Amino acid sequence: MDPEVLTKAPLFAELDEASAAALEQAMGSLRLTKGQILFREGETEDRLYVVVAGKIKLGRSGSAGRENLLAVLGPGQMFGELSVFDPGPRSSTATAVTAAEVRVLEHDELMAWLSDHPEVARSLLGQLAARLRRANDVVADLVFSDVPGRVAKQLLELARRFGDRKDDGVHVHHDLTQEELAQLVGASRETVNKALADFAARGWIRLEPRSVTLLDVERVERRAR
Ligand code: CMP
Repeated sequence: MDPEVLTKAPLFAELDEASAAALEQAMGSLRLTKGQILFREGETEDRLYVVVAGKIKLGRSGSAGRENLLAVLGPGQMFGELSVFDPGPRSSTATAVTAAEVRVLEHDELMAWLSDHPEVARSLLGQLAARLRRANDVVADLVFSDVPGRVAKQLLELARRFGDRKDDGVHVHHDLTQEELAQLVGASRETVNKALADFAARGWIRLEPRSVTLLDVERVERRAR
């Protein structure tokens, strides 16, 4: 793990060095193997997690065994806050997409930090607001955008989080299977694959197993609008 990942995480952003070290001390650590489930949708458990290495997917299951991915989180991102602030069952299942490490903060510990450090509360609210904004965008896209538009948008979102700019384009090692990519877009695997193959044929992207290179970001951006 990059030692600075945690202190750069939004939750820690406004803390001075000593407080950040104390918060880090208060957190437990969990290592997950690829495919391991951290918690399941519907379970009652109220700890807050921050990803420090690897990727975690948050998924919901619908009728007829269909799966939908709400998000794929990488280093620095938190999850599990809904059950902390709105006590109730976990709203999604958290699964390690790759080998991963997460830091854990117990409910009571978090509450004490929020009372003593309003800056942690501010950071948390900021993240919640950003998540709601994004969730609203996703709902609007489901209503207004076609599948290729949503695929383009997801590619840009993955590039923003996991992309690595190189001479030939932005390399995005997302670690997702085609099925998972389709679940993230919220469409069938066939339709999503068709859109990806079309983008590749136009020279906008290059597909590789569990990664994609954006060769023409501008065109992908235009398709996402
Ligand atoms: P909780 O319901 O405790 O457990 C599942 C977690 O998934 C939830 O808290 C949030 O942290 C996270 N989550 C739920 N919905 C979204 C979303 N739309 N985008 C990103 N993360 C989410």
